[in-house]
Amino acid sequence: MSHVKNIQDSLKPIVALCKRRGFIYPGSEIYGGFANTYSFGPYGAELKKNIKDLWWKTFVQERRDMVGLDGPILLHPKAWQASGHLEGFNDALIDCKVCKGRFRCDHLIEEALKEDADGLTVQQMTEKVQKNKVKCPKCGAQDFTEARHFNLMFHTHMSKTGADGDVAYLRPETAQAIFLDYKNIVDTMRVKIPFGAAQIGKAFRNEITPGNFVFRVIEFEQMEIEYFIRESAWEETFERWLRSMHDWCKLIGLNPARVHEKEHPKEQLSHYSKRTVDLVYDFPFGRSELYGLAYRTDFDLKRHAEFSGTNLEYTDPETREKFVPHVIEPTFGVERTILALLCDAYDEEQLENGETRTVLHFSPRIAPVKVAVFPLMKKEPLADKATQIFTQLKAFWACEYDESGAIGKRYRRQDELGTPYCITVDFDTLENDTVTLRDRDSMKQERVPVKELLLILSEKLK
Ligand code: GAP
Repeated sequence: MSHVKNIQDSLKPIVALCKRRGFIYPGSEIYGGFANTYSFGPYGAELKKNIKDLWWKTFVQERRDMVGLDGPILLHPKAWQASGHLEGFNDALIDCKVCKGRFRCDHLIEEALKEDADGLTVQQMTEKVQKNKVKCPKCGAQDFTEARHFNLMFHTHMSKTGADGDVAYLRPETAQAIFLDYKNIVDTMRVKIPFGAAQIGKAFRNEITPGNFVFRVIEFEQMEIEYFIRESAWEETFERWLRSMHDWCKLIGLNPARVHEKEHPKEQLSHYSKRTVDLVYDFPFGRSELYGLAYRTDFDLKRHAEFSGTNLEYTDPETREKFVPHVIEPTFGVERTILALLCDAYDEEQLENGETRTVLHFSPRIAPVKVAVFPLMKKEPLADKATQIFTQLKAFWACEYDESGAIGKRYRRQDELGTPYCITVDFDTLENDTVTLRDRDSMKQERVPVKELLLILSEKLK
């Protein structure tokens, strides 16, 4: 990550809007908070669901070469030995001897020296901190311990043998559950290489972070695909997936000018990867990782075959040739998608009357509320007519009914939720059965017949 600006300061207006409007709340707030955990409030939960549903439709339901999976969070502990996570899934941490503050050493170096610390060994990091007399960001002292590895996996105990039974790990990536079920999928689903398996689910990492809102949290969701291929097809498949990932960014409404590719240098590749390209996004705090695309080779299947003793070879149905498939892995973080969408959509507009309007320009595809219906006043027969329209529309889209407060305030509230359209029922409605349809982005209002509402909205929300 390029630490251009302080994350907390640069995200302040968005964090405030998320709290104010029920998108994201700090975790366990009534107990004083619980670091790096968040709740998705009512609108955040809708937004998240829309993203996951659209992803599933795009990458599973609309394709003939993909299947879905919902594997367990707890896998056999040996799986993490095989995958290399037990040994190699570490962050280098360093402690301040004076205030006991604990930091990720690469972040400490990047913040203090404005240089990339990716790929440095713990010894090299320790030397850099000592040689450059890096100060503790908390207390200013220049007295650090040596940097050392810290495994990022959370663990728990299976209680079958009493309180302290066998150790089990909460998965740090969803990918491994797919590898563990690769054979079941091949045996039961009549899939032929090339094919992919997709999964959406929680992952857990014991991250030390200085509070990066939902950019880096300890519990998050991943949308991952393991795409099984012949080795000879890896380069073309990689390029194809890279294009599909850019297409996805456009589909959800991210500005393509803010999405870039970052190639990982050979010496910084994960233990399983022969090539990795990140899609990085221009967040307000700097250009940082949004998604990743990795060529995992046959590393995972070979290791699981070795550690489990199960044959994970694929047999070509025509030639009967046997081989262990190679894998291209596109991976998408749900929380980072939400943060990028919020940053992309957020705007403070100066209006002609001197007011400032805060608005989220969400794509209608992912907007938590598609249409809001208001009676001009909270009285009959306006409220009754508005309720009828609301009842009709809510069968098709996520709609909201709001009858309290000045109409201008109700529009502003929906602008902050990113609702693309608002409908107002007024006295003319009772005369000629038309309503006002207001567009979030242009703020233009048009008069449309009630009986054409479904058709007009279907067209606009397509
Ligand atoms: N299976 C490959 C894998 O897990 P990764 O780059 O470590 O690769 C994939 O993670 C994606 O998960 C990232 O691109 C990011 O979107 C998301 N992600 C990773 N760690 C995260 C964290 N601590 N908080 C929120 N999202 C995270």
